[in-house]
This record gives sequence, C-alpha cells and structure tokens, in this order.
Amino acid sequence: MNKGIQKIFAEVPKTYELVNHVLTFGFDILWRKKAVKIAVHQGGTHWLDVCTGTGETANYLTNHANTNTKVYATDFSLPMLTEATQKPNGKRIHFTLSDVKQLPFPDNTFDLVTISFATRNLNTSRETLESSFREFHRILKPGGLFVNLETSQPQFFIIRKLFHLFIKIFVKPIGSLISGSNAGYAYLSRTIPRFYSTEELASILKASGFQNVYFTRMLFGAAAIHQSLK
Ligand SMILES: C[S@@+](CC[C@H](N)C(=O)[O-])C[C@H]1O[C@@H](n2cnc3c(N)ncnc32)[C@H](O)[C@@H]1O
Repeated sequence: MNKGIQKIFAEVPKTYELVNHVLTFGFDILWRKKAVKIAVHQGGTHWLDVCTGTGETANYLTNHANTNTKVYATDFSLPMLTEATQKPNGKRIHFTLSDVKQLPFPDNTFDLVTISFATRNLNTSRETLESSFREFHRILKPGGLFVNLETSQPQFFIIRKLFHLFIKIFVKPIGSLISGSNAGYAYLSRTIPRFYSTEELASILKASGFQNVYFTRMLFGAAAIHQSLK
C-alpha cells in the first residue's frame, strides 16, 4: 500500500472537489459527465468505480443506474470514502475500503469498471500501472467495459508547453491555498506533465489484456477518456 499517497488524500477531502473545479475552470465536471455517459451505455447489473475518492463519478453513475444495477465504489483512503458517503446517492452505493492492487471481488464480477483522475496515482511505475489494469481486467466479466478518465498530454508542442507552464505556475499555489495541503498539490503538479500521452496509455491498456481500446481527447488533449473491453 502506498502510504505517501494515502497521507496526501487524508489531507484534502473537504476541499478536493472545489480545487478541481477551480483549477480546471469547471471542465472536470463536463469531462466526468462525458465519461459517465460513455460508461453507462454498457448496461448490466454490476458497476464499480475504483479510486472513487469523494465519490463524484460513482454518484453520477448511480443517477443512471436502474433498480437492477448495483453500484460499487472503492478507495484506500477512509477520509475520502467518508466524504463520498455524504453524496446524494451515498446510501445507494456499496463502498469498500481497499487497495486496487487486490480488490475484494471474484473474477468476472462487473459489467463496468470506471476510474477518474486516479490512474496517475497508480503509475508509480509502468509495471505497477499494468498490474492495476490487470486487476480491473480480472474482475470484469468477459465483454465488460473499462472507462478511464485522466489528464493527458496535448498533441501539439506549443499547446503542450503552455499546458505544462500553467500546471507549473498555478496548480501548487492555488491548490495549497484552498486546501492547506502543500504536499498534495506539489504531487499533482509534478505528476501531470510526466504522465503518458493518449497513445502510450492505450498501448499500456493493450499490454494489460484489454481489447478494442479507443480514446477521446478533451481540451486539446489536456484530458482524455480511454474505453476498452475485456
Ligand atoms: C485524485 S483522487 C480521484 C478521486 C475521484 N476518482 C475523482 O474523480 O475525483 C485519487 C483517489 O485515488 C485513491 N487511490 C490512490 N491510489 C490508490 C490505490 N492504490 N488503491 C485505492 N485507492 C487509491 C486516493 O485515495 C484518492 O481518493
């Protein structure tokens, strides 16, 4: 278990969503809704949002769940999960405290697995990320859908440089000011510019066993949604 990352998320639950909205000028809300719209087309009876944090994505998923669909959400941070239980759909979501390295679900359980803005946290190395993706693959039913929403790298050099400059100048001061957590937003501003391009992430998904990998770039590639099938 990554105690450093767990400690960071214990510091930010109350202000986490506000900082995201401020730093992305509200685009995170649109991106999340878009990812959920893609995800819920999968249908089925068992949906899981991993690294759910304060539960925004799980909450939106639940808005689309019919009475036969159970929505599950996991995270290894108790303070973040506690915040998630306060969401409007909190009582309808089955929460579990667990590390993605070893999810407490049998093989072939879920029709849908989603993750938003947490894949960077799982990327302590490419091998570690692949093993997390393999864990998601294990618990998906054959034909099940994995949807991944994460920051990415703009394709065009100038836009990429401007994006990295924005991250360098604003993320740490604004994030720290609103949340009071220096470590959390230093970590965010360090990891975004180093994360994979959309194509690289697609090839990691394929190497982890996923098929039919597609991606959608948003805001010139500052963020992307990857979808792939077991
Ligand atoms: C940046 S937040 C994203 C939260 C939420 N998915 C969202 O869209 O806002 C990352 C979350 O991933 C969780 N996390 C990071 N590494 C994890 C791991 N190995 N196992 C379980 N949860 C993890 C953190 O506790 C945190 O709540």
